[in-house]
Amino acid sequence: MHPFLRLLRHAAPYRGRLAIALGAMGIYAVASAGLAYLIKPIFDSVLPNRSALGWVATAIVVVYVAKGLGSFCASYLMTDIGQRVVRDLRELMFSHILGQSAGFFARRSTGQLMSRIMNDVSQVQHAVSETIGDLLQESLALVGYAGLMFYYDARLALVVMTGAPVVVYPLVRLGQRVRRTTRRSQEEMEHLSHMAAEAFAGHRIVKAFGAEGHESRRFSAGADRLYRTNMKVTSALAVLPPLMELLGGFGIAAALWYGADQIASARLTTGEFSSFIAAMFLMYGPAKKLSRVNANLQQAIAAAQRIFELLDTHTEVQDRPGAIALAPLGHRIEFADVSFHYSDGDRREILRRVSFTVPAGQMVAIVGLSGAGKTTLVNLIPRFYDVTGGAILIDGVDLRDATVRSLRAQIGMVTQETVLFDDTVAANIAYGSLNAGREAVEAAARAAHAHEFISTLPQGYETRIGERGQRLSGGQRQRLAIARALLKNPPILILDEATSSLDAESERLVQDALARLMMSRTSFVIAHRLSTVRRADAIIVLEKGEVKEIGRHDELLARPDSVYGRLYALQMFERPEGDAAANDGNGRTPEPVGERVREG
Ligand SMILES: Nc1ncnc2c1ncn2[C@@H]1O[C@H](COP(=O)(O)OP(=O)(O)OP(=O)(O)O)[C@@H](O)[C@H]1O
Ligand SMILES: [Mg+2]
Repeated sequence: MHPFLRLLRHAAPYRGRLAIALGAMGIYAVASAGLAYLIKPIFDSVLPNRSALGWVATAIVVVYVAKGLGSFCASYLMTDIGQRVVRDLRELMFSHILGQSAGFFARRSTGQLMSRIMNDVSQVQHAVSETIGDLLQESLALVGYAGLMFYYDARLALVVMTGAPVVVYPLVRLGQRVRRTTRRSQEEMEHLSHMAAEAFAGHRIVKAFGAEGHESRRFSAGADRLYRTNMKVTSALAVLPPLMELLGGFGIAAALWYGADQIASARLTTGEFSSFIAAMFLMYGPAKKLSRVNANLQQAIAAAQRIFELLDTHTEVQDRPGAIALAPLGHRIEFADVSFHYSDGDRREILRRVSFTVPAGQMVAIVGLSGAGKTTLVNLIPRFYDVTGGAILIDGVDLRDATVRSLRAQIGMVTQETVLFDDTVAANIAYGSLNAGREAVEAAARAAHAHEFISTLPQGYETRIGERGQRLSGGQRQRLAIARALLKNPPILILDEATSSLDAESERLVQDALARLMMSRTSFVIAHRLSTVRRADAIIVLEKGEVKEIGRHDELLARPDSVYGRLYALQMFERPEGDAAANDGNGRTPEPVGERVREG
Protein backbone atom coordinates (compact mmCIF):
# COMPACT_ATOMS: atom_id res chain seq x y z
CA MET A 1 0.00 0.00 0.00
CA HIS A 2 1.27 3.48 -0.83
CA PRO A 3 2.52 5.26 2.26
CA PHE A 4 0.27 8.20 1.56
CA LEU A 5 -2.84 6.03 1.46
CA ARG A 6 -1.75 4.34 4.65
CA LEU A 7 -1.36 7.73 6.22
CA LEU A 8 -4.87 8.65 5.14
CA ARG A 9 -6.10 5.46 6.78
CA HIS A 10 -4.81 6.81 10.07
CA ALA A 11 -6.86 9.96 9.47
CA ALA A 12 -9.98 7.94 8.70
CA PRO A 13 -11.34 7.95 12.26
CA TYR A 14 -11.57 11.74 12.01
CA ARG A 15 -13.56 11.91 8.80
CA GLY A 16 -16.39 13.75 10.57
CA ARG A 17 -14.05 16.63 11.32
CA LEU A 18 -12.64 16.40 7.84
CA ALA A 19 -16.13 16.79 6.41
CA ILE A 20 -16.72 19.95 8.46
CA ALA A 21 -13.31 21.26 7.39
CA LEU A 22 -14.23 20.62 3.76
CA GLY A 23 -17.46 22.56 4.25
CA ALA A 24 -15.48 25.46 5.70
CA MET A 25 -13.10 25.31 2.73
CA GLY A 26 -16.07 25.41 0.37
CA ILE A 27 -17.24 28.60 2.06
CA TYR A 28 -13.72 30.01 1.77
CA ALA A 29 -13.59 29.18 -1.96
CA VAL A 30 -16.99 30.66 -2.73
CA ALA A 31 -16.15 33.79 -0.75
CA SER A 32 -12.82 34.14 -2.58
CA ALA A 33 -14.51 33.95 -5.96
CA GLY A 34 -17.23 36.28 -4.67
CA LEU A 35 -14.60 38.87 -3.85
CA ALA A 36 -13.30 38.80 -7.40
CA TYR A 37 -16.88 38.94 -8.65
CA LEU A 38 -17.52 42.15 -6.64
CA ILE A 39 -14.93 43.98 -8.76
CA LYS A 40 -17.48 43.99 -11.58
CA PRO A 41 -20.20 46.08 -9.84
CA ILE A 42 -17.48 48.35 -8.43
CA PHE A 43 -16.21 49.21 -11.89
CA ASP A 44 -19.55 49.06 -13.74
CA SER A 45 -21.94 50.69 -11.21
CA VAL A 46 -20.32 52.13 -8.09
CA LEU A 47 -17.46 54.07 -9.68
CA PRO A 48 -19.19 55.48 -12.80
CA ASN A 49 -22.65 56.33 -11.34
CA ARG A 50 -22.39 55.86 -7.55
CA SER A 51 -25.27 53.37 -7.60
CA ALA A 52 -25.48 50.08 -5.64
CA LEU A 53 -22.92 51.45 -3.20
CA GLY A 54 -24.79 50.17 -0.14
CA TRP A 55 -25.14 46.55 -1.14
CA VAL A 56 -21.67 46.30 -2.65
CA ALA A 57 -20.10 47.64 0.55
CA THR A 58 -22.19 45.26 2.66
CA ALA A 59 -21.37 42.37 0.37
CA ILE A 60 -17.64 43.09 0.67
CA VAL A 61 -17.84 42.92 4.45
CA VAL A 62 -19.99 39.78 4.40
CA VAL A 63 -17.65 38.07 1.94
CA TYR A 64 -14.57 38.90 4.00
CA VAL A 65 -16.23 37.63 7.15
CA ALA A 66 -17.24 34.40 5.41
CA LYS A 67 -13.76 33.99 3.96
CA GLY A 68 -12.15 34.58 7.34
CA LEU A 69 -14.45 32.20 9.16
CA GLY A 70 -14.02 29.54 6.51
CA SER A 71 -10.27 29.86 6.60
CA PHE A 72 -10.14 29.81 10.40
CA CYS A 73 -12.34 26.74 10.77
CA ALA A 74 -10.55 24.91 8.00
CA SER A 75 -7.06 25.51 9.29
CA TYR A 76 -8.06 24.87 12.91
CA LEU A 77 -9.72 21.58 12.04
CA MET A 78 -6.95 20.45 9.71
CA THR A 79 -4.33 21.12 12.37
CA ASP A 80 -6.49 19.29 14.86
CA ILE A 81 -6.71 16.26 12.57
CA GLY A 82 -2.97 16.41 11.91
CA GLN A 83 -2.20 16.54 15.61
CA ARG A 84 -4.55 13.64 16.32
CA VAL A 85 -2.98 11.51 13.61
CA VAL A 86 0.42 12.35 15.04
CA ARG A 87 -0.63 11.47 18.55
CA ASP A 88 -2.04 8.13 17.38
CA LEU A 89 1.06 7.36 15.33
CA ARG A 90 3.37 8.17 18.23
CA GLU A 91 1.38 5.98 20.61
CA LEU A 92 1.37 3.19 18.09
CA MET A 93 5.10 3.47 17.44
CA PHE A 94 5.95 3.63 21.12
CA SER A 95 4.12 0.44 22.02
CA HIS A 96 5.29 -1.21 18.84
CA ILE A 97 8.93 -0.43 19.54
CA LEU A 98 8.65 -1.41 23.17
CA GLY A 99 7.21 -4.76 22.14
CA GLN A 100 10.18 -5.63 19.95
CA SER A 101 12.67 -8.33 20.79
CA ALA A 102 15.94 -7.83 22.60
CA GLY A 103 17.69 -8.42 19.27
CA PHE A 104 15.87 -5.46 17.74
CA PHE A 105 17.20 -3.15 20.44
CA ALA A 106 20.68 -4.57 20.14
CA ARG A 107 20.72 -3.51 16.49
CA ARG A 108 19.30 0.00 16.92
CA SER A 109 20.23 2.88 19.13
CA THR A 110 17.95 4.77 21.45
CA GLY A 111 18.73 8.03 19.64
CA GLN A 112 17.67 6.56 16.31
CA LEU A 113 14.39 5.28 17.66
CA MET A 114 13.72 8.60 19.39
CA SER A 115 14.33 10.43 16.15
CA ARG A 116 11.76 8.27 14.36
CA ILE A 117 9.15 8.93 17.00
CA MET A 118 9.85 12.65 17.18
CA ASN A 119 11.18 13.98 13.85
CA ASP A 120 9.61 11.72 11.29
CA VAL A 121 6.26 12.01 12.98
CA SER A 122 6.44 15.83 13.05
CA GLN A 123 7.15 15.83 9.32
CA VAL A 124 3.98 13.85 8.85
CA GLN A 125 2.05 16.20 11.09
CA HIS A 126 3.16 19.14 8.99
CA ALA A 127 1.94 17.36 5.90
CA VAL A 128 -1.42 16.30 7.24
CA SER A 129 -2.25 19.67 8.77
CA GLU A 130 -0.80 22.14 6.33
CA THR A 131 -0.22 20.42 3.06
CA ILE A 132 -3.44 18.47 2.82
CA GLY A 133 -5.31 21.49 4.19
CA ASP A 134 -3.68 23.69 1.55
CA LEU A 135 -4.26 21.15 -1.15
CA LEU A 136 -7.98 21.01 -0.47
CA GLN A 137 -8.57 24.64 0.39
CA GLU A 138 -6.51 26.18 -2.38
CA SER A 139 -7.74 23.76 -5.05
CA LEU A 140 -11.28 24.73 -4.15
CA ALA A 141 -10.36 28.43 -4.32
CA LEU A 142 -8.69 27.88 -7.70
CA VAL A 143 -11.81 26.17 -8.97
CA GLY A 144 -13.83 29.17 -7.76
CA TYR A 145 -11.62 31.69 -9.58
CA ALA A 146 -11.43 29.59 -12.69
CA GLY A 147 -15.21 29.19 -12.64
CA LEU A 148 -15.61 32.95 -12.53
CA MET A 149 -13.15 33.44 -15.43
CA PHE A 150 -14.93 30.84 -17.56
CA TYR A 151 -18.23 32.47 -16.69
CA TYR A 152 -17.04 35.78 -18.16
CA ASP A 153 -15.22 34.52 -21.21
CA ALA A 154 -14.36 30.88 -21.70
CA ARG A 155 -12.01 31.54 -24.62
CA LEU A 156 -10.04 34.15 -22.74
CA ALA A 157 -9.85 31.83 -19.73
CA LEU A 158 -8.48 29.03 -21.90
CA VAL A 159 -5.88 31.34 -23.44
CA VAL A 160 -4.46 32.50 -20.11
CA MET A 161 -4.42 29.00 -18.68
CA THR A 162 -2.62 27.28 -21.54
CA GLY A 163 0.66 27.70 -19.71
CA ALA A 164 -0.49 25.77 -16.65
CA PRO A 165 0.31 22.21 -17.81
CA VAL A 166 3.89 23.27 -18.63
CA VAL A 167 4.58 23.79 -14.97
CA VAL A 168 3.39 20.34 -13.95
CA TYR A 169 6.43 18.50 -15.26
CA PRO A 170 9.03 20.44 -13.24
CA LEU A 171 6.77 20.13 -10.21
CA VAL A 172 6.74 16.36 -10.46
CA ARG A 173 10.49 16.11 -11.04
CA LEU A 174 11.18 18.43 -8.18
CA GLY A 175 8.88 16.38 -5.97
CA GLN A 176 10.92 13.24 -6.59
CA ARG A 177 14.07 15.07 -5.69
CA VAL A 178 12.54 16.46 -2.53
CA ARG A 179 11.47 12.98 -1.46
CA ARG A 180 14.98 11.57 -1.84
CA THR A 181 16.62 14.46 -0.06
CA THR A 182 14.08 14.40 2.74
CA ARG A 183 14.82 10.77 3.37
CA ARG A 184 18.50 11.58 3.58
CA SER A 185 17.78 14.51 5.84
CA GLN A 186 15.76 12.33 8.23
CA GLU A 187 18.58 9.79 8.26
CA GLU A 188 21.11 12.48 9.11
CA MET A 189 18.81 13.69 11.85
CA GLU A 190 18.61 10.17 13.23
CA HIS A 191 22.36 9.92 13.22
CA LEU A 192 22.70 13.26 14.98
CA SER A 193 20.19 12.30 17.61
CA HIS A 194 22.06 9.03 18.17
CA MET A 195 25.40 10.82 18.62
CA ALA A 196 23.95 13.32 21.06
CA ALA A 197 22.15 10.67 23.11
CA GLU A 198 25.29 8.55 23.34
CA ALA A 199 27.56 11.43 24.29
CA PHE A 200 25.19 12.73 26.97
CA ALA A 201 24.58 9.31 28.46
CA GLY A 202 28.32 8.70 28.58
CA HIS A 203 29.28 12.22 29.64
CA ARG A 204 31.52 11.03 32.46
CA ILE A 205 33.63 8.85 30.21
CA VAL A 206 33.72 11.55 27.56
CA LYS A 207 35.18 13.94 30.15
CA ALA A 208 37.43 11.43 31.85
CA PHE A 209 39.06 10.58 28.54
CA GLY A 210 39.16 14.18 27.41
CA ALA A 211 37.08 13.34 24.36
CA GLU A 212 34.81 16.42 24.39
CA GLY A 213 36.57 17.82 21.35
CA HIS A 214 36.32 14.53 19.52
CA GLU A 215 32.59 14.25 20.26
CA SER A 216 31.96 17.88 19.29
CA ARG A 217 33.78 17.45 16.01
CA ARG A 218 31.84 14.30 15.24
CA PHE A 219 28.63 16.09 16.07
CA SER A 220 29.39 19.21 14.08
CA ALA A 221 30.33 17.11 11.06
CA GLY A 222 26.91 15.47 11.34
CA ALA A 223 25.16 18.80 11.87
CA ASP A 224 26.89 20.15 8.79
CA ARG A 225 25.78 17.21 6.68
CA LEU A 226 22.23 17.75 7.90
CA TYR A 227 22.47 21.44 7.02
CA ARG A 228 23.62 20.68 3.51
CA THR A 229 20.95 18.08 2.92
CA ASN A 230 18.28 20.45 4.21
CA MET A 231 19.51 23.22 1.94
CA LYS A 232 19.08 20.91 -1.03
CA VAL A 233 15.43 20.51 -0.11
CA THR A 234 15.14 24.26 0.40
CA SER A 235 16.60 25.16 -2.97
CA ALA A 236 14.14 22.81 -4.61
CA LEU A 237 11.28 24.38 -2.69
CA ALA A 238 12.35 28.00 -3.18
CA VAL A 239 12.47 27.76 -6.95
CA LEU A 240 8.75 27.08 -7.14
CA PRO A 241 7.09 30.44 -6.27
CA PRO A 242 9.12 32.51 -8.79
CA LEU A 243 8.38 29.87 -11.40
CA MET A 244 4.68 30.24 -10.78
CA GLU A 245 4.94 34.02 -10.78
CA LEU A 246 6.66 34.02 -14.14
CA LEU A 247 3.90 31.87 -15.54
CA GLY A 248 1.29 34.23 -14.08
CA GLY A 249 3.02 37.16 -15.79
CA PHE A 250 2.73 35.47 -19.16
CA GLY A 251 -0.95 34.81 -18.50
CA ILE A 252 -1.68 38.42 -17.62
CA ALA A 253 0.19 39.70 -20.67
CA ALA A 254 -1.82 37.34 -22.88
CA ALA A 255 -5.07 38.42 -21.21
CA LEU A 256 -4.29 42.11 -21.82
CA TRP A 257 -3.44 41.49 -25.42
CA TYR A 258 -6.64 39.64 -26.10
CA GLY A 259 -8.88 41.44 -23.58
CA ALA A 260 -8.23 44.91 -25.00
CA ASP A 261 -9.81 43.76 -28.26
CA GLN A 262 -12.76 42.20 -26.43
CA ILE A 263 -13.50 45.48 -24.61
CA ALA A 264 -13.08 47.46 -27.82
CA SER A 265 -15.63 45.23 -29.52
CA ALA A 266 -17.86 45.63 -26.39
CA ARG A 267 -18.14 41.90 -25.72
CA LEU A 268 -16.84 42.50 -22.16
CA THR A 269 -17.53 45.53 -19.93
CA THR A 270 -14.58 47.21 -18.22
CA GLY A 271 -15.92 45.82 -14.93
CA GLU A 272 -16.07 42.30 -16.25
CA PHE A 273 -12.54 42.52 -17.62
CA SER A 274 -11.24 44.02 -14.35
CA SER A 275 -12.98 41.29 -12.42
CA PHE A 276 -11.40 38.73 -14.75
CA ILE A 277 -7.94 40.18 -14.24
CA ALA A 278 -8.53 40.34 -10.47
CA ALA A 279 -9.48 36.66 -10.44
CA MET A 280 -6.24 35.96 -12.28
CA PHE A 281 -4.15 37.91 -9.83
CA LEU A 282 -5.95 36.28 -6.93
CA MET A 283 -5.28 32.89 -8.45
CA TYR A 284 -1.63 33.47 -7.93
CA GLY A 285 -1.83 32.90 -4.15
CA PRO A 286 -3.46 29.48 -4.30
CA ALA A 287 -1.36 28.48 -7.29
CA LYS A 288 1.82 29.37 -5.44
CA LYS A 289 0.75 27.30 -2.46
CA LEU A 290 -0.34 24.43 -4.63
CA SER A 291 2.95 24.40 -6.46
CA ARG A 292 4.61 23.51 -3.17
CA VAL A 293 2.01 20.98 -2.17
CA ASN A 294 3.54 18.18 -4.17
CA ALA A 295 6.99 18.84 -2.76
CA ASN A 296 5.62 18.99 0.77
CA LEU A 297 3.66 15.82 0.24
CA GLN A 298 6.80 14.11 -0.95
CA GLN A 299 8.51 15.17 2.26
CA ALA A 300 5.68 13.66 4.25
CA ILE A 301 5.73 10.49 2.19
CA ALA A 302 9.45 10.09 2.80
CA ALA A 303 8.86 10.40 6.54
CA ALA A 304 5.78 8.19 6.46
CA GLN A 305 7.75 5.53 4.64
CA ARG A 306 10.30 5.45 7.44
CA ILE A 307 7.54 5.26 10.03
CA PHE A 308 5.77 2.41 8.28
CA GLU A 309 9.04 0.55 7.76
CA LEU A 310 9.43 0.57 11.50
CA LEU A 311 5.81 -0.40 12.13
CA ASP A 312 6.21 -3.26 9.66
CA THR A 313 9.26 -4.61 11.47
CA HIS A 314 8.02 -7.50 13.51
CA THR A 315 10.57 -9.01 15.83
CA GLU A 316 8.36 -9.25 18.86
CA VAL A 317 8.28 -12.61 20.60
CA GLN A 318 4.82 -13.69 19.63
CA ASP A 319 2.48 -16.21 21.13
CA ARG A 320 1.95 -19.25 18.99
CA PRO A 321 -1.61 -19.74 17.84
CA GLY A 322 -3.24 -21.74 20.60
CA ALA A 323 -0.57 -20.84 23.16
CA ILE A 324 -1.66 -21.77 26.66
CA ALA A 325 -1.45 -19.77 29.85
CA LEU A 326 1.34 -21.29 31.88
CA ALA A 327 0.22 -22.72 35.24
CA PRO A 328 2.31 -21.65 38.25
CA LEU A 329 5.57 -23.60 38.34
CA GLY A 330 4.94 -26.83 40.22
CA HIS A 331 7.63 -29.39 39.46
CA ARG A 332 10.65 -28.40 37.43
CA ILE A 333 12.34 -26.26 34.84
CA GLU A 334 14.22 -28.21 32.24
CA PHE A 335 16.82 -27.18 29.69
CA ALA A 336 16.80 -29.89 27.03
CA ASP A 337 19.72 -29.74 24.61
CA VAL A 338 19.46 -25.98 24.38
CA SER A 339 21.62 -24.31 21.75
CA PHE A 340 21.63 -20.64 20.96
CA HIS A 341 23.21 -18.13 18.63
CA TYR A 342 22.32 -14.46 18.55
CA SER A 343 21.44 -13.59 14.99
CA ASP A 344 21.45 -15.13 11.57
CA GLY A 345 24.37 -12.95 10.63
CA ASP A 346 26.46 -14.24 13.51
CA ARG A 347 25.93 -17.97 13.83
CA ARG A 348 28.64 -18.44 16.45
CA GLU A 349 26.99 -20.66 19.03
CA ILE A 350 26.93 -18.96 22.40
CA LEU A 351 25.27 -21.96 24.08
CA ARG A 352 25.85 -25.54 22.95
CA ARG A 353 23.62 -28.47 23.93
CA VAL A 354 22.96 -27.21 27.43
CA SER A 355 20.92 -29.71 29.44
CA PHE A 356 19.97 -29.67 33.10
CA THR A 357 16.87 -29.87 35.26
CA VAL A 358 16.00 -27.67 38.19
CA PRO A 359 13.38 -29.05 40.59
CA ALA A 360 10.92 -26.40 41.76
CA GLY A 361 12.03 -24.60 44.89
CA GLN A 362 15.72 -25.08 44.33
CA MET A 363 18.46 -22.57 43.86
CA VAL A 364 20.83 -23.02 40.95
CA ALA A 365 23.99 -21.05 40.61
CA ILE A 366 25.58 -20.49 37.24
CA VAL A 367 29.26 -19.76 37.24
CA GLY A 368 31.86 -19.38 34.54
CA LEU A 369 34.33 -16.94 33.11
CA SER A 370 33.22 -13.65 31.66
CA GLY A 371 31.67 -14.26 28.25
CA ALA A 372 30.87 -17.91 29.00
CA GLY A 373 27.20 -17.33 28.22
CA LYS A 374 25.65 -17.01 31.70
CA THR A 375 23.55 -13.91 30.97
CA THR A 376 22.56 -15.36 27.64
CA LEU A 377 21.37 -18.52 29.34
CA VAL A 378 19.12 -16.79 31.85
CA ASN A 379 17.77 -14.42 29.19
CA LEU A 380 16.27 -17.43 27.48
CA ILE A 381 14.01 -18.18 30.45
CA PRO A 382 11.73 -15.09 30.10
CA ARG A 383 12.08 -15.51 26.31
CA PHE A 384 14.01 -12.31 25.67
CA TYR A 385 15.40 -14.57 22.99
CA ASP A 386 14.07 -17.89 21.77
CA VAL A 387 16.34 -20.91 21.75
CA THR A 388 17.73 -21.80 18.34
CA GLY A 389 18.01 -25.50 19.18
CA GLY A 390 16.49 -27.77 21.81
CA ALA A 391 13.84 -26.50 24.21
CA ILE A 392 13.23 -25.08 27.64
CA LEU A 393 10.34 -26.70 29.47
CA ILE A 394 8.45 -25.65 32.55
CA ASP A 395 6.53 -28.59 34.02
CA GLY A 396 6.87 -30.27 30.65
CA VAL A 397 5.47 -27.34 28.67
CA ASP A 398 7.76 -25.89 26.01
CA LEU A 399 8.07 -22.17 26.75
CA ARG A 400 7.23 -21.43 23.14
CA ASP A 401 3.83 -23.08 23.63
CA ALA A 402 2.99 -20.81 26.55
CA THR A 403 1.86 -17.20 26.35
CA VAL A 404 4.65 -14.73 26.96
CA ARG A 405 2.54 -12.86 29.45
CA SER A 406 1.82 -15.86 31.66
CA LEU A 407 5.49 -16.86 31.50
CA ARG A 408 6.88 -13.46 32.45
CA ALA A 409 4.32 -13.05 35.22
CA GLN A 410 6.15 -15.86 37.01
CA ILE A 411 9.60 -14.38 36.75
CA GLY A 412 11.35 -11.76 38.83
CA MET A 413 14.63 -10.46 37.55
CA VAL A 414 17.58 -8.46 38.71
CA THR A 415 19.70 -7.77 35.65
CA GLN A 416 23.43 -7.32 35.39
CA GLU A 417 23.04 -3.63 34.59
CA THR A 418 20.70 -2.17 37.14
CA VAL A 419 17.77 -0.47 35.47
CA LEU A 420 15.90 2.21 37.36
CA PHE A 421 13.53 4.91 36.21
CA ASP A 422 13.46 8.64 36.82
CA ASP A 423 10.81 8.43 39.51
CA THR A 424 10.54 8.12 43.27
CA VAL A 425 12.16 5.34 45.25
CA ALA A 426 8.73 3.92 46.09
CA ALA A 427 7.61 3.95 42.45
CA ASN A 428 10.79 2.21 41.41
CA ILE A 429 10.31 -0.56 43.92
CA ALA A 430 6.62 -0.89 43.04
CA TYR A 431 7.43 -0.97 39.32
CA GLY A 432 5.35 -3.73 37.82
CA SER A 433 3.39 -4.21 41.05
CA LEU A 434 1.30 -1.08 40.82
CA ASN A 435 -1.22 -2.22 43.42
CA ALA A 436 1.37 -2.71 46.13
CA GLY A 437 0.71 -0.62 49.23
CA ARG A 438 3.33 1.35 51.11
CA GLU A 439 3.73 -1.40 53.69
CA ALA A 440 4.52 -4.02 51.08
CA VAL A 441 7.02 -1.66 49.44
CA GLU A 442 8.71 -1.07 52.77
CA ALA A 443 8.79 -4.77 53.58
CA ALA A 444 10.50 -5.48 50.27
CA ALA A 445 12.95 -2.65 50.89
CA ARG A 446 13.75 -4.04 54.33
CA ALA A 447 14.32 -7.50 52.92
CA ALA A 448 16.72 -6.06 50.37
CA HIS A 449 18.44 -4.04 53.11
CA ALA A 450 17.52 -0.87 51.30
CA HIS A 451 15.28 0.58 53.99
CA GLU A 452 18.22 1.92 56.00
CA PHE A 453 19.62 4.10 53.24
CA ILE A 454 16.18 5.09 51.94
CA SER A 455 15.31 6.49 55.39
CA THR A 456 18.31 8.80 55.18
CA LEU A 457 17.28 10.23 51.78
CA PRO A 458 15.83 13.78 51.91
CA GLN A 459 12.26 12.73 51.16
CA GLY A 460 12.57 9.06 52.10
CA TYR A 461 10.53 6.86 49.82
CA GLU A 462 9.32 9.90 47.90
CA THR A 463 12.82 10.98 46.84
CA ARG A 464 13.28 11.12 43.10
CA ILE A 465 16.40 9.26 42.08
CA GLY A 466 17.17 10.86 38.70
CA GLU A 467 17.56 9.32 35.32
CA ARG A 468 18.76 5.72 35.61
CA GLY A 469 18.96 6.30 39.35
CA GLN A 470 22.02 8.54 38.97
CA ARG A 471 21.59 10.08 42.40
CA LEU A 472 22.19 6.75 44.10
CA SER A 473 25.33 4.74 44.56
CA GLY A 474 25.81 1.55 42.55
CA GLY A 475 25.10 -0.65 45.56
CA GLN A 476 22.01 1.35 46.50
CA ARG A 477 20.70 0.95 42.98
CA GLN A 478 21.22 -2.78 43.17
CA ARG A 479 19.34 -2.98 46.44
CA LEU A 480 16.37 -1.15 44.90
CA ALA A 481 16.43 -3.57 41.99
CA ILE A 482 16.43 -6.49 44.41
CA ALA A 483 13.56 -4.97 46.39
CA ARG A 484 11.61 -4.57 43.17
CA ALA A 485 12.09 -8.23 42.28
CA LEU A 486 11.14 -9.29 45.80
CA LEU A 487 7.97 -7.21 45.81
CA LYS A 488 6.78 -8.88 42.64
CA ASN A 489 7.04 -12.10 44.64
CA PRO A 490 7.46 -14.40 41.65
CA PRO A 491 7.85 -18.18 41.76
CA ILE A 492 10.99 -17.89 39.61
CA LEU A 493 13.77 -15.51 40.51
CA ILE A 494 16.72 -14.64 38.27
CA LEU A 495 19.60 -12.77 39.82
CA ASP A 496 22.38 -11.81 37.41
CA GLU A 497 25.26 -10.43 39.45
CA ALA A 498 22.61 -8.92 41.69
CA THR A 499 24.94 -8.25 44.58
CA SER A 500 28.14 -7.52 42.66
CA SER A 501 28.28 -3.84 43.67
CA LEU A 502 27.72 -4.42 47.35
CA ASP A 503 30.42 -4.42 49.97
CA ALA A 504 31.03 -7.66 51.80
CA GLU A 505 28.91 -6.59 54.76
CA SER A 506 25.85 -5.56 52.74
CA GLU A 507 26.26 -8.49 50.45
CA ARG A 508 26.13 -10.90 53.34
CA LEU A 509 23.02 -9.22 54.71
CA VAL A 510 21.31 -9.19 51.32
CA GLN A 511 22.37 -12.78 50.72
CA ASP A 512 20.75 -13.78 53.97
CA ALA A 513 17.54 -12.04 53.00
CA LEU A 514 17.67 -13.59 49.56
CA ALA A 515 18.34 -17.01 50.99
CA ARG A 516 15.21 -16.76 53.09
CA LEU A 517 13.18 -15.59 50.11
CA MET A 518 14.64 -18.13 47.78
CA MET A 519 13.59 -20.95 50.05
CA SER A 520 10.14 -21.14 48.56
CA ARG A 521 11.10 -20.32 45.00
CA THR A 522 13.12 -21.53 42.10
CA SER A 523 16.06 -19.30 41.50
CA PHE A 524 18.89 -18.84 39.07
CA VAL A 525 21.79 -16.98 40.53
CA ILE A 526 24.79 -15.78 38.55
CA ALA A 527 27.74 -14.61 40.55
CA HIS A 528 31.40 -14.10 40.00
CA ARG A 529 32.05 -14.13 43.72
CA LEU A 530 31.88 -17.78 44.44
CA SER A 531 31.28 -17.11 48.11
CA THR A 532 27.73 -16.16 47.14
CA VAL A 533 26.98 -19.38 45.31
CA ARG A 534 28.21 -21.77 47.91
CA ARG A 535 24.78 -22.49 49.32
CA ALA A 536 23.23 -23.33 45.94
CA ASP A 537 21.46 -26.67 45.54
CA ALA A 538 23.34 -27.09 42.30
CA ILE A 539 26.14 -25.20 40.62
CA ILE A 540 26.31 -25.22 36.86
CA VAL A 541 29.74 -24.49 35.50
CA LEU A 542 29.65 -23.01 32.01
CA GLU A 543 32.67 -22.84 29.81
CA LYS A 544 32.42 -21.35 26.32
CA GLY A 545 28.70 -22.07 26.21
CA GLU A 546 28.93 -25.66 27.35
CA VAL A 547 28.01 -27.19 30.66
CA LYS A 548 31.25 -28.53 32.14
CA GLU A 549 30.14 -29.60 35.56
CA ILE A 550 27.00 -29.74 37.67
CA GLY A 551 26.96 -30.43 41.36
CA ARG A 552 27.02 -29.00 44.84
CA HIS A 553 29.90 -26.90 46.06
CA ASP A 554 31.54 -29.69 48.00
CA GLU A 555 31.04 -32.27 45.30
CA LEU A 556 32.58 -30.05 42.67
CA LEU A 557 35.55 -29.19 44.83
CA ALA A 558 36.11 -32.86 45.60
CA ARG A 559 36.40 -33.74 41.92
CA PRO A 560 39.86 -34.12 40.49
CA ASP A 561 40.62 -31.57 37.73
CA SER A 562 37.48 -29.63 38.58
CA VAL A 563 36.91 -26.45 36.56
CA TYR A 564 34.99 -25.07 39.50
CA GLY A 565 37.88 -25.87 41.79
CA ARG A 566 40.20 -23.96 39.49
CA LEU A 567 37.87 -20.93 39.45
CA TYR A 568 37.55 -21.11 43.18
CA ALA A 569 41.25 -21.37 43.78
CA LEU A 570 41.95 -18.42 41.50
CA GLN A 571 39.52 -16.31 43.38
CA MET A 572 40.86 -17.24 46.77
CA PHE A 573 44.39 -16.39 45.79
CA GLU A 574 43.43 -13.17 44.11
CA ARG A 575 41.47 -11.86 47.01
CA PRO A 576 43.34 -8.80 48.24
CA GLU A 577 44.94 -9.01 51.67
CA GLY A 578 42.92 -6.15 53.07
CA ASP A 579 39.67 -7.73 52.07
CA ALA A 580 40.60 -11.07 53.51
CA ALA A 581 41.81 -9.48 56.71
CA ALA A 582 38.63 -7.48 57.08
CA ASN A 583 36.61 -10.59 56.60
CA ASP A 584 38.63 -12.49 59.11
CA GLY A 585 38.30 -9.67 61.54
CA ASN A 586 34.55 -9.86 61.32
CA GLY A 587 34.59 -13.60 61.31
CA ARG A 588 32.88 -13.57 57.97
CA THR A 589 35.16 -15.85 56.02
CA PRO A 590 34.31 -19.03 57.80
CA GLU A 591 35.81 -21.57 55.47
CA PRO A 592 39.49 -22.46 55.13
CA VAL A 593 38.84 -22.82 51.44
CA GLY A 594 42.31 -22.52 50.11
CA GLU A 595 43.35 -25.70 51.80
CA ARG A 596 40.35 -27.58 50.63
CA VAL A 597 41.03 -26.55 47.04
CA ARG A 598 44.58 -27.71 47.31
CA GLU A 599 43.37 -31.02 48.62
CA GLY A 600 41.09 -31.36 45.58
N1 LIG B 1 23.18 -9.13 21.84
C1 LIG B 1 24.24 -9.88 21.50
N2 LIG B 1 24.51 -10.10 20.20
C2 LIG B 1 25.54 -10.85 19.84
N3 LIG B 1 26.39 -11.44 20.69
C3 LIG B 1 26.19 -11.27 22.00
C4 LIG B 1 25.11 -10.46 22.47
N4 LIG B 1 25.14 -10.47 23.83
C5 LIG B 1 26.20 -11.24 24.16
N5 LIG B 1 26.83 -11.71 23.08
C6 LIG B 1 27.99 -12.64 23.08
O1 LIG B 1 27.62 -13.79 23.79
C7 LIG B 1 28.69 -14.26 24.58
C8 LIG B 1 28.21 -14.55 25.99
O2 LIG B 1 27.76 -13.35 26.59
P1 LIG B 1 27.07 -13.32 28.00
O3 LIG B 1 26.60 -11.97 28.24
O4 LIG B 1 26.05 -14.40 28.06
O5 LIG B 1 28.28 -13.67 28.92
P2 LIG B 1 28.34 -13.79 30.51
O6 LIG B 1 28.72 -15.19 30.81
O7 LIG B 1 27.10 -13.27 31.11
O8 LIG B 1 29.56 -12.85 30.84
P3 LIG B 1 29.77 -11.85 32.07
O9 LIG B 1 30.19 -12.69 33.21
O10 LIG B 1 30.88 -11.00 31.62
O11 LIG B 1 28.50 -11.14 32.30
C9 LIG B 1 29.78 -13.22 24.50
O12 LIG B 1 30.81 -13.74 23.71
C10 LIG B 1 29.16 -12.04 23.79
O13 LIG B 1 30.07 -11.51 22.87
MG1 LIG C 1 26.62 -11.58 32.16
